[in-house]
Parts: sequence; C-alpha cells; structure tokens
Amino acid sequence: MNKNIAIIGAQWGDEGKGKIVDFLSKKFDYVVRYQGGGNAGHTIVKKNKKIVLHLVPSGILHTNVTNIIANGVVINPKNLQEEIQNIQNFGINTKNRIYISENCFLVFSFHTIFDKMREKFLKNKAIGTTGMGIGPVYEDKIARRGIRVSDLKYSKIFSEKLKFLIEYYNFYLTKFFNYRKIEYLEIFKEAMKNAEFLKKISIDTIDKLDEIKRQKKSVIFEGAQGSLLDIDHGTYPYVTSSNTSIGGVFSGSGVGFNYIKKSIGVIKSYCTRVGSGPFPTELFGKIKKEIFTKGQEIGSTTGRIRRIGWLDAVLLRKVVKINAFSYLCLTKLDVLDNLEEIKVCIYYILKNGEKVRFTPICTQFLEEVKPVYRTFPGWKKNTSKIKDFFLLPEKAKNYINYIEEVLDIPIKIISTGPERNSIIIREM
Ligand code: GDP
Ligand code: IMO
Ligand code: MG
Repeated sequence: MNKNIAIIGAQWGDEGKGKIVDFLSKKFDYVVRYQGGGNAGHTIVKKNKKIVLHLVPSGILHTNVTNIIANGVVINPKNLQEEIQNIQNFGINTKNRIYISENCFLVFSFHTIFDKMREKFLKNKAIGTTGMGIGPVYEDKIARRGIRVSDLKYSKIFSEKLKFLIEYYNFYLTKFFNYRKIEYLEIFKEAMKNAEFLKKISIDTIDKLDEIKRQKKSVIFEGAQGSLLDIDHGTYPYVTSSNTSIGGVFSGSGVGFNYIKKSIGVIKSYCTRVGSGPFPTELFGKIKKEIFTKGQEIGSTTGRIRRIGWLDAVLLRKVVKINAFSYLCLTKLDVLDNLEEIKVCIYYILKNGEKVRFTPICTQFLEEVKPVYRTFPGWKKNTSKIKDFFLLPEKAKNYINYIEEVLDIPIKIISTGPERNSIIIREM
C-alpha cells in the first residue's frame, strides 16, 4: 500500500517541520528533500541534544532511513560536507545513508557574496534573505547558465561554464556593487576538491525513486521553508526562490502525482516570519515578548529574531487549498500555555469596509488589510507532557477544534515541545 507523504510548511517557515519529519520517519524507509538549500534550518531535539539540519533530510537520526537530496535542491558542497561531519560528530553513521541528485545545482561562494551585496544595495527594500546564495543560484538555473553536480564529471565543460559564470558575476560585482573581482582559479580548484566528495554520493535520483516505488518502500518528502514563501504562491517578492508548496515535490524530485498518498501541512499554534514582507497579524510588545521567550523564536540558520503574530486563518485557508492538505500538524501548542488570551484572525476588513475570508496572497493588498480576531481564554496549564488529546485542558481543545473548524480540515498531530516524544497523535 502506498503510504508516501509530503510534509509541507504552511506559514512562513520554521513551523517545526524537522521535528515532525524526524518523529514520523521512524516508520518510513526514505526521506527526500526536493527544494530549497542551506537557507533551511530544521531542528531536531533528541534526549536534550539538539541538531540543526540545513541540507540533509530530517530522517537522518533514524538508522532505518536513507536520505535523498533530489534535483530541486541547490547545494553548497562545502556546507554539505560540514553538515555531514556535524551529524557524524553527533554519533550518527551516515555511510550509504545520504545521496544527492546529479542534477542539483551548485551554490558557489560568489552566489553568497552576490546575495549579501544585493541585500545591502536594496537597503530598506531588502528581502531579508538568509544570505546563503539561494536567490542567485536559482536565477542561474532559470536563466540556463547554472552549473550542476553532473557538470563536475566533465572538467572541460565545467571549466567553460564556470568561466562564463564568473565573468557574468564579476561584471555585476565590480561594476554594480563595487566589490572585488572573483578569481576563477580559486573557485575552480575548490570545486575540483569538492567534486571528489560529491562523486561518492551523487546518483540518478529519478531511477532511485522509481526503484523505491517498485520495491514498495515508503517515502516522506520533506518540504523546506513554508507555503507563504513559495515563489509563485507566497507573499512575492518577499519569498524564497523555489516552489515550497506541493507542486515543488513533483518538479523537485521527478515523481508523478500518484507517488504521494497524502499532503500534510505543518502549522505553528501562532505564526512567525523571518525577514521582510507583509504580516497582517504581527504582534508587538508584551505578548510578542512572552511568545518569543517561551518559543525561543530565533532563526536556526541565521540567528535572527523571528517576527511573531497570531494564527492567520485567512492566509491558511488559501494555503490549505494550494497544497490540497489531507490534514494538519499543529506545533508549539505548549508555547501558548501561560497566555491570558489567544487570538485567531478569522477575516480581514478591507479599506472599503468589506469583510473577506479568502484573499489573494498579494503583498500590497496584505499591507492594507485589518485583521479581525476571535479571542480565546488561555488554558494556563502545562501541556508539554500530555500524550492524549482528551487529557489536554478543555480550553486548549476548544482552540484546536476551532482551528479545524475555520480551516475546514482535521488536525491529527499536535506537538507540545521540542523533544521528539512531546507529541500527541490523534489518528493518522
Ligand atoms: P522547521 O524549519 O520547520 O523545521 O522549524 P525550525 O526547526 O526552524 O524551528 C522550530 C523550532 O521550534 C525549533 O527550535 C524546534 O526545536 C522547536 N519546536 C518544534 N516543535 C515544538 C513544540 O511543539 N514546542 C516547542 N516549544 N518547540 C518546538
Ligand atoms: P525552514 O526550512 C524561515 C526566508 C528568509 C527571507 C526569504 C528569502 O527552516 O523553514 P532566501 O535566503 O531563501 O532567499 O530568503 O525566505 N527563509 C526562511 N524563513 N525558515 C526558512 O526555512 C527559510 N528559508 C528562507 O528569511 O525572508
Ligand atoms: Mg527552520
């Protein structure tokens, strides 16, 4: 029976996808990443020890799981090597457990430099990127000048492509950003060194995924970022440069729509975002501080403080549709444990007074809306050790039931702490 699933962030990232994938993957054979790159930061806490994954799929802590980085992911080889080393230092054997697609595009140091220089140049219009070179490398991919892992096999072709790319970047870096010239030889030598490492783990992931299907093995497709950061469906231009919602699974890993049985969304019990862009339910002041402190809302990739707001059902209704979610996982319920009251935005009021429950996800539009909330009394009890939904405080159950009602979708998994086992499974 096909039990393959996709786990997808439903807000602006950092919903706790890593924790959910880690928890679920003990019963799966493979975890596949299909988009994004080192901009992702997926945290797993196991017996008080924390690990943050950026490129490696969150199945890595379970030795039964093989992890695949498919073609839609962009790879900085140096960062990947360091990450694998870090995982090994954590006591995990990674041998024959991590594979990458030959079709992944490579992130070079000049991509990260360009990313940071452009952000600086944009000043108050900056996107607030992670500075990992993600935008530039996806731009190269679409402009058909990008370099893939497979190009490393053909050193002549690789060197020609690299020369052209460096010439292109040098033009912008020196003329536009007043930055120093990038030296071809330096980059070439480093790439050749990295090629040895990449060669050992790169495969044709299309064939691998087909073999997995024929062997009736099970797969989790692990999303990075969140649907509101999707290049097509998110709060453009304040988005990342890949398809973070369900569509990305298919183009980013080369499987057909029927490869997956369920698309599952992950939402925080409130909402956060890192970087610029509209955030209708954003909080400031005392409540923000309380949530920030309890939720430890500091970016796992850049260490930036996350912006915080109430759950936004208007945006989520759209995200549920885009992803055709089968059900939701609700994370960080425990973070709300001590609050006096909790709010959910149920509709917006537009400038002309009109009430809307569904909106276009459009930056200019979202900057002008006024969120209208339903307020819930806080439950003021510790939920972090509870393992059964029925044992949750009545007021917490009401909050969860209400979210299901306004979004018209069941919540089947509830996370009540960073630890792997702080979780309530209602049904799956
Ligand atoms: P991801 O990018 O979606 O994987 O999420 P991150 O790992 O960037 O951010 C989620 C943060 O919340 C991490 O520090 C997790 O350890 C933590 N976390 C996940 N689930 C819970 C939860 O239910 N309660 C609390 N308190 N923390 C959680
Ligand atoms: P995970 O997988 C939260 C945000 C950046 C910025 C925008 C564009 O941990 O949920 P980029 O570097 O991608 O060009 O930045 O996207 N962003 C994330 N925010 N979690 C992430 O990943 C993110 N990856 C990118 O902060 O606003
Ligand atoms: Mg994260």
